Amino acid sequence: MAERSVPSLLLITLSLLGLNLHAVEGHINAIYVFGDSTVDVGNNNYLPLLTSREAKANFPHYGIDFPTSTPTGRFSNGLNAADQLAILLGFPMSPPPYLSLTPENFTMQMFRGVNFASGGSGIHEYTGSRYKVISMAVQIQYFAMVSGIITKLMGPVGASDFLSRCLFLISTGSNDMFEYSFAKRSSRDDAMFLAGLTSTYKEHLKALYNLGARKFGIVSVPPLGCCPSQRARNHTGGCYEMLNGLSGKFYPAIGEVLQNLHSELPDMKYALGNSFSMVGSILESPKPKFKELKFACCGYGKFYGEYQCNQTFPYCANRTEYLFWDWFHPTQAASEMAAEALYGGSKKIVTPMNFKQLAENDR
Ligand SMILES: *[C@@H]1O[C@H](CO)[C@@H](O)[C@H](O)[C@H]1NC(C)=O
Ligand SMILES: *[C@@H]1O[C@H](CO)[C@@H](O)[C@H](O)[C@H]1NC(C)=O
Ligand SMILES: *[C@@H]1O[C@H](CO)[C@@H](O)[C@H](O)[C@H]1NC(C)=O
Ligand SMILES: *[C@@H]1O[C@H](CO)[C@@H](O)[C@H](O)[C@H]1NC(C)=O
Repeated sequence: MAERSVPSLLLITLSLLGLNLHAVEGHINAIYVFGDSTVDVGNNNYLPLLTSREAKANFPHYGIDFPTSTPTGRFSNGLNAADQLAILLGFPMSPPPYLSLTPENFTMQMFRGVNFASGGSGIHEYTGSRYKVISMAVQIQYFAMVSGIITKLMGPVGASDFLSRCLFLISTGSNDMFEYSFAKRSSRDDAMFLAGLTSTYKEHLKALYNLGARKFGIVSVPPLGCCPSQRARNHTGGCYEMLNGLSGKFYPAIGEVLQNLHSELPDMKYALGNSFSMVGSILESPKPKFKELKFACCGYGKFYGEYQCNQTFPYCANRTEYLFWDWFHPTQAASEMAAEALYGGSKKIVTPMNFKQLAENDR
């Protein structure tokens, strides 16, 4: 008896703290974030075995435009796409990093959202493994624990109802492609690589569905060959074409996976953002939204993109004029634009519905 009264007491406590665990039309209960550095908000800061600075961003000049002007582990001058989307969905910013939670605040935060993303990770288990980052499979294992506790506290029916009104935001795939692009040409088979990537992605999405996920917000990869570090690999200063070719094929491949899952899995809903066309149209626009499309704001070498930004390098004065903050990552201004397009954009950019419609789409 005493044991059974614990969950209800907990639920009362949670609701007293202002948590609404019951359905509100068109409202997202919580956001769970998975993926790489495009949405990591500091998990990598907590990885003791991660010694490479490349997979960390907890030092200046990262975070100079963050509300507190401090580095947080976000690979940005300020907020990233996870923050921007969370803000549009009515949250203060991204939920906190999973690894920042303690036994005291874990249960509370679990119901409000958690960010599992880890810079350097990819779809495949081996992507980023040399940095010892958190792979997608492990991110999903961490969520399995969260889902298990929610089920224990709310019961299976309550938990599945709660989770069906949560957003599962996933932004991954870039690092798999970067690593593949460094493999010997003779050992590369693009068609096989893409097939492996999409089938593994499908397994991850199914695993999340089986843990209660119903609303998937998926972000595809931008034209990766045009970020400063990859431009630096092209002697003419153009984009690195091999990577752009792969990036362009990812969106339709993932689109097919999602369409299949949608017809296989009851109540599975999704919004798929086309980052390739979003960034492509900025790069090709005769009047682009940013003055500087090639150079990183902070870094060193060709296009300031050969070395990662750190405190020894200068940074640009006006970050809102730059598409890229560092060798790989967009500025806060660019991720804000992307988030707005994902949230409210047309079918050209996000299909079959946008993130706002996904949030409001209730059974
Ligand atoms: C949880 O507690 C830790 C340690 O006090 C703190 O650093 C962290 O910010 C807290 N997180 C939340 C979401 O309250
Ligand atoms: C370098 O850029 C030029 C101009 O955009 C392009 O034609 C060429 O294919 C690129 N080379 C590589 C190796 O990507
Ligand atoms: C900044 O980056 C450069 C190039 O990677 C490196 O040589 C230097 O040690 C770094 N400085 C700091 C303070 O981390
Ligand atoms: C920064 O650039 C933006 C866009 O070009 C411009 O509107 C703004 O006035 C600039 N800010 C400063 C402080 O120069």
